[in-house]
Amino acid sequence: MTEPLVLGIETSCDETGVGIVRGHTLLADAVASSVDEHARFGGVVPEVASRAHLEAMVPTIERACETAGIRPYDVDAIAVTSGPGLAGALLVGVAAAKALAFALGKPIYGVNHLAAHVAVDQLEHGPLPEPAIAMLVSGGHSSLLRVTDLTAGVDPMGATIDDAAGEAFDKVARLLGLGFPGGPVIDREARSGSSVAIDFPRGLTARHDLERHRFDFSFSGLKTAVARWVEARERSGEPVPVADVAASFQEAVCDVLVRKALDAASSEGIEDLVIGGGVAANSRLRVMAEERAAGLGIRVRVPRPGLCTDNGAMVAALGAEMVARGRTPSALDLPADSSQPITSVLV
Ligand code: KG4
Ligand code: ZN
Repeated sequence: MTEPLVLGIETSCDETGVGIVRGHTLLADAVASSVDEHARFGGVVPEVASRAHLEAMVPTIERACETAGIRPYDVDAIAVTSGPGLAGALLVGVAAAKALAFALGKPIYGVNHLAAHVAVDQLEHGPLPEPAIAMLVSGGHSSLLRVTDLTAGVDPMGATIDDAAGEAFDKVARLLGLGFPGGPVIDREARSGSSVAIDFPRGLTARHDLERHRFDFSFSGLKTAVARWVEARERSGEPVPVADVAASFQEAVCDVLVRKALDAASSEGIEDLVIGGGVAANSRLRVMAEERAAGLGIRVRVPRPGLCTDNGAMVAALGAEMVARGRTPSALDLPADSSQPITSVLV
């Protein structure tokens, strides 16, 4: 059998993504973002995102089919993010996917957004090693997972107990007046700053925290520490060294993420670490993970930055894996589940 041709739809946040893959080969990755419409609010406004998805959906599907050189009838299956994400935004994608699947008479797979962030790496680096440790770092989630079969389920090892890593980037960028989303701007600012200028706290790394939270994350204390530091500086009338704050903050986040991910891999005797989600686009995180893993004999896989942030190709990639492994498709009345747990990879 030839590899499955799958069209994937992603609308969990502010990106309308439509991707088309054949097995592990990426054919099209069309993304329409409403990020500019949210920027002045400093965060994603759900209702604005839902309306933007409605407007962008059909043109983005058409653009993806054109790029891939296929007609919708050619696909073997439709995949869609069923959750987690913004309820209204998810509904637009799920409704579009159902309409396509019904009209074309093709199976539909409602898949987990977080698992899709892991699956996308297959489009760049080939089949996922199994078992692997996956670290998922996005605007809404930060988790460490043990993956034996991505299409069947994953075992959560740890997660953030407060803010997600991307959320911390967004909040710190806001308090530095750098705009939204914060990750890319902090990444850029940090390049001209010193990562050792300010010693910001590393959450949940003290010995007494490790007993209960060895693989969990906490970034809200770090965010507060940055805010206090900046306030003190402003009170004293001195200029805020934005690049140094950005670099030192980024170093603190990456240090904790990489330390815990490598500890998870070592503790399980697993030699492969996959990093996914928007924060995986961070240039410092990528270099630090590579460097530290090499010393431990652990291989690191991170998709290229454009595939780390939300897109439709990741959903198509997970859908293609579902087809290839013979998973039963979802029912046509599948729900959009805004709080779909990571343990549920296919609804
Ligand atoms: O995965 P994603 O696109 O959407 C969610 O599922 O949340 O992740 C978005 C998050 C945002 O918080 C954004 O600031 C962060 O990823 N991000 C980055 C970078 N690019 C995006 N964080 C750090 N460094 C980056 N280069
Ligand atoms: Zn995401």
